[in-house]
Amino acid sequence: MCGIAGFVGSEPAAPMVFKALTRLEYRGYDSAGLATISRGHLWHKKGVGKLPEVQAQLNLDKMPGTVGIGHVRWATHGAVTDANAHPHLDCRGRIAVVHNGIIENYQELRASLSPTHRFLSETDSEVIPHLIEAHMAQGMSLEDACYHTSRQLKGSYAFLAIAASEPDKIVACRQDSPLVVGHSQGRCFIASDVPSFLEHTNQVTYMEDGEMVVLVPGQATFYNGLKGDLREPLAKEVSQIDWTLEDISKQGYDYFMLKEIMEEPTTIRRALEQDRQLVMDAAMDILRARQVVITACGTSRYAALIGRYLFSKLAGKFCDVVMASEFQYFSDSVDKNTLVIAVSQSGETADVMEGVRRAKANEAQVLSIVNTQGSSVARASDRVIYLDCGPEMAVAATKSFVSQLAVFYLLAYAMRSRLDEGIAKLKAAAGAIERELKDNFKKVERLAEVTKDRADYYFIARGANFAIATEGALKLKEISYIHAEGMPAGELKHGTLSLIEDGTPVVVICPQDYTHAETLSNAMEARARGAYIIGVSDADHEAFHEWIRIPQTEEVFYPLVTVIPLQLLAYYLALARGLDPDHPRHLAKSVTVK
Ligand code: F6R
Repeated sequence: MCGIAGFVGSEPAAPMVFKALTRLEYRGYDSAGLATISRGHLWHKKGVGKLPEVQAQLNLDKMPGTVGIGHVRWATHGAVTDANAHPHLDCRGRIAVVHNGIIENYQELRASLSPTHRFLSETDSEVIPHLIEAHMAQGMSLEDACYHTSRQLKGSYAFLAIAASEPDKIVACRQDSPLVVGHSQGRCFIASDVPSFLEHTNQVTYMEDGEMVVLVPGQATFYNGLKGDLREPLAKEVSQIDWTLEDISKQGYDYFMLKEIMEEPTTIRRALEQDRQLVMDAAMDILRARQVVITACGTSRYAALIGRYLFSKLAGKFCDVVMASEFQYFSDSVDKNTLVIAVSQSGETADVMEGVRRAKANEAQVLSIVNTQGSSVARASDRVIYLDCGPEMAVAATKSFVSQLAVFYLLAYAMRSRLDEGIAKLKAAAGAIERELKDNFKKVERLAEVTKDRADYYFIARGANFAIATEGALKLKEISYIHAEGMPAGELKHGTLSLIEDGTPVVVICPQDYTHAETLSNAMEARARGAYIIGVSDADHEAFHEWIRIPQTEEVFYPLVTVIPLQLLAYYLALARGLDPDHPRHLAKSVTVK
């Protein structure tokens, strides 16, 4: 789950690659490095720390040369050390490689190379430059060597390679890890995602599994690495991306997370501009399928749980939600009469992608709900509904969650042939959220200050709101590092109540819906044992020490409005504890490893 980027052109490569890495930081941020070629010499610099820290020590963007590759790391194999940072080199320091993914057979490859090659790191990735070196020593070109290397690798990879003996060239191979090429007059970009080079070009080509590309200034030549024919270039489509630079800049906010929360009313409206026919067709697929299984991870799975509730409540269609990392254990029950709905902001989550592959292998239909255009999940699906909420830069998912909910609402209303009604109601909800955002800031900020030193937080709710409780807890853990649990309110008394001490914060999500009265009883039980009750509701109650007011809405829309104060609470708690909410430790935005 690292980020990789490369540039070849006629101007200095290092500033281009460095800038791209700043956009990829969400994918990993424990170490960083760059390699360039200038006057027949390969230069490389790398070190431990977030990208700005490494830059402050090493001036990565000042390296010479017009071809360069770079990496931000999220450690998998080997500790966070300078030696384990990328790029990795061959024995003579003439070949440099950056890699994203996991090489499963690296031990065996390393053992076979060890007698004649010198390894400096503990990483799986380092076998790649040494394999390339071994092939080039037999007279192969860089592209032939990369091609033969890629055929020896098992696992997932996107790697970029440069060699001092063949300057002005980057060779890249992809298997199960994203890579996209950016086309621009006289130069070429390549990276793990589009935003990395969006300020230079929106003309892109997505690489598929098994493909290789050779980049020279202004020209990208693609090959099908699996078929093994390096003389027959592939004709590949160039797509135009409609994201803008504004989408990927903070626009005056201190952090992307707050900017993205503030965008939520707009992103709901954007999600409503879907092609009507697409939504209707997808809704019909759901109704017709003998069984429907939704698969997703993390926050996207919580959106899926609410989707399941909406399908059942509004359209009488029962479906199941299976955690993507567990999907393989159920996939025998998936067949050609099954519709699998894959939900993923990034569209690159390895577990979700694996679920999609298994579903396709069993001849199931796949509908995906995805944000990132052209992502692996989107391309592998029979039908795709895009969230269209713009790139989400903060690691914690916020605006994509409400957009996922908006799409589930649309589908549920379309299943009842009442799409227009659904759209009108969602527009009204977006307006209510806009007003709510302004009201809640101060209160939530103060609450964060008061509770910032607590060791635990609990979130309780019933019915569909339970998924919001778990999402609130996930967000809090993720960026404030406070232990948090979300649970059905009725379960508290079956064990967890023993953990409640004087002042333990318990967030009670209890809008005035079918869950209201019973959830309040559970809040009273917790209060009687000393809990500090934070009520998220459209009505105040004696159980609450603090009341976070949400707008009144129709019952089914409460999940859309209750989640936002919880996102804000996590954000302000991270700030109150002196943490960077955009880059929580140990995590990465796009989880491309299983
Ligand atoms: C939490 C968060 C993660 C993701 C999960 C799935 O804030 O962002 O839990 O929701 O890793 O990611 P996607 O939706 O990209 O498949």
